Amino acid sequence: MGLLEFYMNEDPLNRSRPKKKVLKTLFKAAWILPLLGLGFYGLRTELYRAQILPPSANPNIAIPQNNLTEALWKAPDVNTLPMNETGKEIRYGKELIAHTSEYLGPKGSIRSMSNGMNCQNCHLDAGTKPFGNNYSAVASTYPKFRARSGTEETIQKRVNDCIERSLNGQPLSDESCEMKAIVAYIKWVGSNVPKGVTPKGAGLVDLAFLSQQADPKKGKILYQTKCVLCHKANGEGTMNAKGNAWTYPPLWGDQSYNHGAGLFRLSRFAGYIKANMPFGTTFDKPQLTDEEAWHLAAFVNSMPRPTKDMAKDWPDISKKPIDHPFGPFVDGFDEHQHKYGPFSPIKEKREKLKKMKTITAKKRDK
Ligand code: HEC
Ligand code: HEC
Repeated sequence: MGLLEFYMNEDPLNRSRPKKKVLKTLFKAAWILPLLGLGFYGLRTELYRAQILPPSANPNIAIPQNNLTEALWKAPDVNTLPMNETGKEIRYGKELIAHTSEYLGPKGSIRSMSNGMNCQNCHLDAGTKPFGNNYSAVASTYPKFRARSGTEETIQKRVNDCIERSLNGQPLSDESCEMKAIVAYIKWVGSNVPKGVTPKGAGLVDLAFLSQQADPKKGKILYQTKCVLCHKANGEGTMNAKGNAWTYPPLWGDQSYNHGAGLFRLSRFAGYIKANMPFGTTFDKPQLTDEEAWHLAAFVNSMPRPTKDMAKDWPDISKKPIDHPFGPFVDGFDEHQHKYGPFSPIKEKREKLKKMKTITAKKRDK
């Protein structure tokens, strides 16, 4: 399906929204839309806030178990949530993931503490889409040790990582209604995954390394044909009519994710767009070749964006990912190659160093 057809067939944004049917009906009666819209938006914040009460001790939520050996992971159905306090808290969490900006963005109704992006911009379909950076493996694998911080991290810490980096914002306190709801939702999304398991379809796809370096110039040309329609020539995206959320989120500039964000690593960006962009793409019907995805990642991540103090990151520098573009490094390769590749020589060198380390350790132990 061509981009134009895709565009004509349906409003791409509505695909991922649970309110699709409601919106369709509203669309038919377009003349009352502005009136209804005003009332609805004003009310929504109040409604969700009002629902927040301490979750009941025993939620009794029935969750279907997946057959993880055969099938792609599938999120539980939000409609199966009971209308008790736990159900309401989880629903509020979903709302915060899908429409973060309306609550916590520059014009947020609760607080202004982030750049205006939604979690859902990167965690598609509220973190339920296969290979759309979903939350399937969060409840099952956290708390866990992460080398970036060098500490055991809770889900709250990981959520704040994305707020401070991807949303270039200020962290939420663990005790806030909003953090509690986000964590309740993320735990519920992954509640059909056994402890320790990372199911099929989790996170992002991993693309094979290119033999040459990823080229921002090639990426720029691709951007102009495949991305510019929605993300715009200056990468600044498009705001909705109310000016409180992005219709198409920015890819660079002041309103975008900062240097410390996951997407600033070329492998994460390339994996994300391969399975998900142009919008509407699924992992089993990609529209970009691996090579195109790498070049696009190189282009977008060579454009200006906010910085972040990362002095405390990677206390053990040997644990930096191969495509983490900030030195110092243990392997002797420079920042440019760590950013754009080619990555295979770095990987080989790292493996050699690791082997040498174990040999020395064994000799020492004798
Ligand atoms: C600009 C894109 C972007 C935005 C916006 C974003 N994230 Fe993330 N998030 C990522 C990337 C990239 C990763 C790491 C994926 C990987 O390394 O496989 C990640 C990882 C996570 C993880 C850990 C997932 C796992 O399986 O270990 C959680 C939890 C998370 N994000 C929550 C959030 C929440 C909550 C928000 C909104 C407050 C948010 N993110 C906003 C890009 C984003
Ligand atoms: C048809 C419109 C459309 C096209 C074309 C498109 N995107 Fe997107 N893109 C979106 C939308 C909409 C989102 C946010 C998804 C959501 O919130 O559900 C998004 C999100 C993103 C994100 C994560 C959020 C952010 O702003 O950092 C990246 C990265 C991205 N797109 C890159 C690309 C690239 C690269 C291309 C070209 C190959 C592309 N997109 C083409 C509509 C589009």
